[in-house]
Amino acid sequence: MFSRHLLGLEGMSRLEVLDILDEAQRFRDLLDGPGVSSRDLEGVTVCNAFFENSTRTRVSFELAERRLGATSVSFSAVDSSTAKGETLLDTLRVIQSMRVDLVVVRHPSAGAASYLTRHLEAGVINAGDGQHEHPTQGLLDLLTLRQAWGGRFEGRRMAIVGDIAHSRVARSAIHGLRALGVTVTLAGPPTLIPAGIETLGVTVAPSVEDALRDADAAMALRIQRERMEQGLLASLSEYARVWGVNAKRADLLRPDGVVMHPGPMNRGVEISPDVADGPRSVIFEQVTDGVAVRCAVLRRCAAGMRRGRS
Ligand code: NCD
Repeated sequence: MFSRHLLGLEGMSRLEVLDILDEAQRFRDLLDGPGVSSRDLEGVTVCNAFFENSTRTRVSFELAERRLGATSVSFSAVDSSTAKGETLLDTLRVIQSMRVDLVVVRHPSAGAASYLTRHLEAGVINAGDGQHEHPTQGLLDLLTLRQAWGGRFEGRRMAIVGDIAHSRVARSAIHGLRALGVTVTLAGPPTLIPAGIETLGVTVAPSVEDALRDADAAMALRIQRERMEQGLLASLSEYARVWGVNAKRADLLRPDGVVMHPGPMNRGVEISPDVADGPRSVIFEQVTDGVAVRCAVLRRCAAGMRRGRS
């Protein structure tokens, strides 16, 4: 029933998304109680292969694997033979030859995870591929929203603000939110809004105020400094002034509207510190939900892997 891969949320049905969220919620409840310690991944070997920096994604996958009883190892490109010129495929073939069942991969190239599924027998979980998708982040955002919204997605509206063009987080969130019937409004500097993004079923607001007004949630995205070097942004202070989610703007949300950020945050740029630490912020809920979602995804992919073998 389950696939051994998770590459993205594009094309995923409403029922499938809700099913993963239900399972993740069960793990989430366990995290609040005595803790998750199941044997769901006993006998399963997982390799976390990170060819790009990561804090929360990598740590939460590692914690989820340990909680579920997997045998897991991690490596990052900086301390591996990739730094000596080994290709992605060769590196992962080496890992698979050590009898790894699941590979969690983060890579700067869009399509890297999908490419690996064509060459490896292991299940592949995409932990972020270039500007394409970051499906476990999209799912954890939905889990956080489900709690904030009392379980009702239909009729809700979400504002996503910032660098949409380079954001795999935004792309996965859009696919997941649209599958659940949420209206999505984007806002950001015109140089950072991709042409034709409306084909994903979203609208683009002319200002951050327009996007946030009466929305049920806002997500601020990280502004990557290299975008200024590329001439796509004037300056960080100008960005904060025009697009930053500050207290005045957050108050345009509905009274119970929440503020999200995938991290890492540039405080004072895309989000002001008082909002990040304020009553509307669910940013640290998102991090906890990330462990629960990764437990659910790992369990499903491991089940898909075992079935493929039987
Ligand atoms: C993001 C990523 O790396 O895609 N972080 C994350 O996984 N929570 C967002 C970012 O780097 O801006």
